[in-house]
Amino acid sequence: MKKIGILTSGGDCSGMNATIRSAVRTALRMDLEIAGFRKGYAGLMKGDAVPLDTKSVSGTLHRGGTFLQSARSPEFRAPEGQQKALANLRSLGVEGLVIIGGDGSLNGALALDRLGFPVIGIPASIDNDIPFTDMALGVDTALNNIIYAVDCIKDTASSHARAFVIEVMGRNSGYLASVSAIACGAEFALVPEREFDLAEICQQLRARYEEGRDNAIIILAEGAGGARQIADSIKDAIGFETRVTVLGHYQRGGAPTVFDRLLGSRFGKRAVELLAQGEQGKMVGLACNEIIATPLEEVVKGSKRPDDDMLRMAEVLGI
Ligand code: ADP
Ligand code: F6P
Repeated sequence: MKKIGILTSGGDCSGMNATIRSAVRTALRMDLEIAGFRKGYAGLMKGDAVPLDTKSVSGTLHRGGTFLQSARSPEFRAPEGQQKALANLRSLGVEGLVIIGGDGSLNGALALDRLGFPVIGIPASIDNDIPFTDMALGVDTALNNIIYAVDCIKDTASSHARAFVIEVMGRNSGYLASVSAIACGAEFALVPEREFDLAEICQQLRARYEEGRDNAIIILAEGAGGARQIADSIKDAIGFETRVTVLGHYQRGGAPTVFDRLLGSRFGKRAVELLAQGEQGKMVGLACNEIIATPLEEVVKGSKRPDDDMLRMAEVLGI
């Protein structure tokens, strides 16, 4: 193998630059050329590639987002889009590809693998909904962003004796909501994985208000319901005035934490080493602090949800 490619696809997250940097440095150390495709599968279908060297990745480690940019590219789901990508890879002399992205992007990686092109996937999504890795890239930074925001909101909430419904991302996963609720001492985490009873929640919030507590924080996973609707339905019953904050894309950016810089560096290095060793069709992952590799076929068939212990702990540590 003489030349490999790398791209970032789907929702961006902090730590992607650290991953690209590590892959580039590892490739150069192994005398491999490495090209970066811009804007994920969109760039792959256009053949929009730039050669990467140590200069291209200098000063990127501490930056959030992805300097290669990312995209959601519906055209790549169709066989015609995948054939275009394949033709470009071949004409550019690229013999293997590192794909950094979430579950959708890893499905795209599997499509290329099934067409016989060597790929290695890297799990990157703040949702932490990708199986065969304890943590995906970007999750730790997103959690730290959430905690910072909730701590700020608690200050103003307690000054006004208010309850806040704070909506966090996660698509259909309640991982960010349950873990951040534990870490910031929220009263409730409302997640799609567990049914909740709003009447019961209101009762507990009312009791809290009557005890003289000066604030209440309810962390809502975006997949568990609308923040405004939930706030409206609890507003009259709980005593506290109620406000809503939707944290939105703020959660996805910012300087990566040490954990994400390290995880990205480990993932990027291993992905390139695997390609160079002739491995293909796998995703790297973190299991008990070891970097493992799992066939993409198994990854896309699997599913991941926050473990029950975590969900129970979020409940127990509430009110
Ligand atoms: P993420 O990777 O963050 O989950 P998406 O679900 O939007 O983000 O997927 C990113 C891109 O991956 C899509 O825009 C599409 O180009 C590609 N993709 C998603 N699912 C498939 C699939 N089943 N087959 C081929 N490509 C896919
Ligand atoms: O998958 C990552 C994620 O941030 C989800 O948590 C969220 O639902 C979605 O992407 C937002 O997508 P977009 O950036 O396209 O608005």
